[in-house]
Amino acid sequence: MKILFKKNIILGITGGVAAYKTIEIIKKLKEEGASVRVILTKSANLFVTKCTLRVVSGLPILENFVKGNSISHIKLANWADLVILAPATANIIAKLSCGIADDLLTLVCLATLSKIIIVPSMNRNMYVSKSVQYNIKRLERFGMKIFYPEIGRQACGCFGIGRMMNTQKIVNLVIKYFHKKNNYKNLNFMITAGPTREMIDPVRFISNFSSGKMGFFLAEAASCISKNVILISGPVNLPTPKRVKRINVISALEMQKEVMKRIDRQNIFIGCAAVSDYRIQKFSKEKIKKNSNKIKINFIKNPDIIKSIGHLKKNRPYVVGFAAETCNIEKNAIKKIKEKKLDLICANNVTNFSKNFSCNKNALSLIWKNKKKNFPYQKKSVLAKKLIKEIIKNYEKKNRNSNS
Ligand code: PMT
Repeated sequence: MKILFKKNIILGITGGVAAYKTIEIIKKLKEEGASVRVILTKSANLFVTKCTLRVVSGLPILENFVKGNSISHIKLANWADLVILAPATANIIAKLSCGIADDLLTLVCLATLSKIIIVPSMNRNMYVSKSVQYNIKRLERFGMKIFYPEIGRQACGCFGIGRMMNTQKIVNLVIKYFHKKNNYKNLNFMITAGPTREMIDPVRFISNFSSGKMGFFLAEAASCISKNVILISGPVNLPTPKRVKRINVISALEMQKEVMKRIDRQNIFIGCAAVSDYRIQKFSKEKIKKNSNKIKINFIKNPDIIKSIGHLKKNRPYVVGFAAETCNIEKNAIKKIKEKKLDLICANNVTNFSKNFSCNKNALSLIWKNKKKNFPYQKKSVLAKKLIKEIIKNYEKKNRNSNS
């Protein structure tokens, strides 16, 4: 089956000379099985005719948002599996960078949850100008994909960078994008989050400051690419991310039970929970009374959940651990990656716990057996997306190597 079969693509054409080349893009996308709806901006009208686009796409061409238009920008935004802006002028790039929504195309771009691909095309001096470069980087940071322009002879007679990417290359990259997306859709993720609580008596427990935020953001980021995300969470006060299956637990033993029940079906396991290393040896069924000046509580070791996953001989997933350290951060993290047999460990310095536990930001050092990468202090929501991307990249690499 063709990879673009049943894929809905919006092609936003803006006012550049390369607009005439979009006819080729539409033809090729349709040949690959996609449905293509064209949105034409006012200035694009000057470069390519509506009549031709309608014939090639087989659907009415959409222009500015008009009252009474039965297809609202929200419906269009939801319909699209992908939005491509080709050619993308300096003007549309600037508008998207600022969140301006003053026509149908910009409204759809703001409203869609699907990927947006920007295919810049403009004169070389305009392309290298500071503002255009700044705006392109901003769009990348917003999660849009840039299909960078090529060097060559330009319509204005200049030679340099700014020519729209070759149309066949654009279609090939779109196919590659959907191919990857389809591959990830069925990846099984299991993520643990939050603290565990070890009960002393019916009203008292020991625990830690984990809020669950980092693990929940990871689950949210994973759910954007996969439909199979299980989040096993200790007691936290957070809403469940959409499309994520959540299992609530209290203690380390409960977490271990829920994890191990399902672990043989997972492709990727991320242990972000701050699991209590010890539990109370003898839970007191009655509330402990304050009869003496001192009390003694014995602790015994909890099972190391991630270590037993790392050491699995059969159906072992790609295993990612976290290390919360207050000293010798890297050295201790390396010790953990070896002892627990992890593929990757994300070390964080928790000396000043208010800077990572509970709060919305964190910094991480990603350590593999043979390489290292630092993610500076930033929002956990952003950090989570970067981490999931990095995990998938390395998971794929490991799979490729073990298959070759
Ligand atoms: O929840 P937040 O407020 O957002 O804070 C995020 C965080 C600081 C909790 C998170 O970034 C983090 O560091 N989580 C791991 C904390 C931890 O328990 O670190 P550790 O070094 O003690 O454990 C190492 C690894 O072993 C972890 O992957 C842990 O999940 C796992 N472990 C530990 C003990 C145990 N009995 N079983 C385990 O699986």
